[in-house]
Amino acid sequence: MCAKLKLKGKEIFERSLEVIPGGVNSPVRAFIGLGMDPLIVEKGEGDTITDVDGRTFIDYCMSWGALLHGHAHPEIVEAAIERIKGGSSFGISTEVEEKLAHAITTGVKGVDQVRFVSSGTEATMSAVRLARGYTSRPVVIKFNGNYHGHSDGFLVKAGSGVSQVSNDSSSDGVPREVVKNTLSLPYNDVDTFKSVMRDPFYSQFVAAVVLEPIAANMGVVLPSADFLQTLRVETKRIGALLIFDEVITGFRVAFGGAQELYVTEPDMVCFGKIIGGGFPAAAFGGSREIMSRLAPMGKVYQAGTLSGNPVAMEAGLKALEMASMDGFYKELERKTKVITEPIKHALKAKGMAACIQAAVGMFTLFLGLKKVTCFEDLKELDKEGFNRYFRFMWDRGIYISPSPYEACFICSVHTEAHLEKTRDAILEFIETC
Ligand SMILES: Cc1ncc(COP(=O)(O)O)c(C=O)c1O
Repeated sequence: MCAKLKLKGKEIFERSLEVIPGGVNSPVRAFIGLGMDPLIVEKGEGDTITDVDGRTFIDYCMSWGALLHGHAHPEIVEAAIERIKGGSSFGISTEVEEKLAHAITTGVKGVDQVRFVSSGTEATMSAVRLARGYTSRPVVIKFNGNYHGHSDGFLVKAGSGVSQVSNDSSSDGVPREVVKNTLSLPYNDVDTFKSVMRDPFYSQFVAAVVLEPIAANMGVVLPSADFLQTLRVETKRIGALLIFDEVITGFRVAFGGAQELYVTEPDMVCFGKIIGGGFPAAAFGGSREIMSRLAPMGKVYQAGTLSGNPVAMEAGLKALEMASMDGFYKELERKTKVITEPIKHALKAKGMAACIQAAVGMFTLFLGLKKVTCFEDLKELDKEGFNRYFRFMWDRGIYISPSPYEACFICSVHTEAHLEKTRDAILEFIETC
């Protein structure tokens, strides 16, 4: 009798389960709810990844949006290797930090200075600390369904409407006292936001309002026309800082980020993902006046052994150089539309309860809903349908982000043939619904 061959990926995952909690180093990699073993990747090349069992997929996870130019882009690889040859980390300043800081500050409005860190979590956590130090106020307002990393103060359960604003922590290990100064409000709800900002308590104590200016962590959800504008007006009125978390949208939807598209200038901006060119780097920035409150000049403390790591800086600088080429974002938008436009039409023609929502370089197919404007809408999400969709795409060699609450990312090297193959597979899936 011949024993059934076990996949190498399965073996690796089983061994990982012994030494890594849940077998993964970030929960969504575990394929929660999908009923499948997670992918164990061996290599990436351009717009594809190949797993340890030799299966190749067109990749739309793209390291959760970090890879604007796909996997192992030759120019980025070369920049990183050249740097590594001369030493990969010093804990001492290097010239490339200044170069990348200049690329960011000249490209993004209102950002005079940036401080580099190693993850988006650190960027948002540090930005909030600085905002609190700058305003001498304690309260931070965020929005339900936005994700700003896993620092304690951001782990607040979503609540619906101002009367149900929740101060409950959404993670064990985060005491209520830690999140008592974080309020989570419904995204795109101008009236609720206004009523909070006009409350005598909040108008006195809000240090910062933080949001994803285009949400991508509840799937892609665009801000309504007056939402960002209201946030800008109200924060200015009460002397609170407006912080855009552009960890995903920065250098993705436009070189200047979502603020360029929506012509709303925040006081501070957080970056991550793309600015590291596939290596761990992130940053937060703002006006010279605000940033001067950071140590060593000011009294807001923030530091990091690997902050501004030169390999990540070189890779990030190369990524931004390539993105700054004329027509780059027009082309990325065109590529995005190769997939999204025909799907939109097909869904409409079929009258199906589903929608595809997109921004430049990213999209989400929501099953069960005709429109998504906030996290609360997602109660109607068809999670079973998503599992079928994920499997359908997987079987055709297409890897979409493994959760219905995430975006799929398009990079500059997704080929026309692969975009069309993906489009056709989604159209075929819709036919089966
Ligand atoms: C908008 C946003 N902010 C912050 C973070 C946290 O970044 P990191 O995972 O690098 O800590 C993420 C991660 O996906 C994000 O999407």
